[in-house]
Amino acid sequence: MRLVLVGPPGAGKGTQAQFIAEHVGVPKISTGDIFRANVSQGTPLGLEAKEYMDRGDLVPDGVTIEMVRNRLAEPDAITGFLLDGFPRTVPQAEVLDDILRETADTKLDVVLELVVDDDEVIRRLSGRRTCRTCNHIWHVDFDPPKVPDVCDIDGGELFQRDDDKAETIANRLQVYAEQTAPLVAYYAGRGMLVGIDATGPVDDVTVRAIDALRPFPAGEA
Ligand code: AP5
Repeated sequence: MRLVLVGPPGAGKGTQAQFIAEHVGVPKISTGDIFRANVSQGTPLGLEAKEYMDRGDLVPDGVTIEMVRNRLAEPDAITGFLLDGFPRTVPQAEVLDDILRETADTKLDVVLELVVDDDEVIRRLSGRRTCRTCNHIWHVDFDPPKVPDVCDIDGGELFQRDDDKAETIANRLQVYAEQTAPLVAYYAGRGMLVGIDATGPVDDVTVRAIDALRPFPAGEA
């Protein structure tokens, strides 16, 4: 299955991507995670991306598209993938179509939209904590670790993302409305979009997502 997850910042894309990718049996490819790994390693790509990420703006396409093109050419992504955070604009979606045609003579199967409102986004992002070593996502109220600021899974330190400050969240929501909402309309117009209510307990959202994917290739896995 070749699947894209879309939804506003904090919709739960990263949380759900892990479960869905495991269920469907494809690698999870998150552009945000790749950028953050480059930032923490201090690579040239990370240094370039950081200033945009800290403001909540999109990283320029020249950087982002080559990164995705290279990742999709890796052997584990040839037969399927779950993309989290790419594409985010209509031009990125058009480039993704070209990449899939050129590398594997194939196309996307489905785009899954996680639908939540802005108030819920703000509640989720302001309490998010991420493990520095395994990247597992926690929430101080909705999904707290047993010991504050320590990951239950590997004992790693939990940190708050720089782009989860109130003023940056506001800009990310505006960027989403201006640049990514048209992408959702684009996929809806092509009959590729399936939307689910992404509110309520994490497990309930996962069940809704898996049900929504059942009609698509490998979705019945
Ligand atoms: P990215 O990392 O993709 O950020 P995002 O899209 O803003 O999404 P988030 O990661 O903030 O949220 P999420 O939907 O994954 O929610 P999560 O599961 O963590 O991108 C970061 C930056 O990188 C961008 O701003 C941009 O600068 C750059 N970038 C990335 N891709 C790019 C591209 N294609 N082009 C250009 N630039 C790009 O959940 C959030 C919180 O809610 C967690 O604490 C979680 O525990 C909690 N939660 C989840 N589900 C539930 C639930 N059901 N109930 C209660 N709480 C829940």
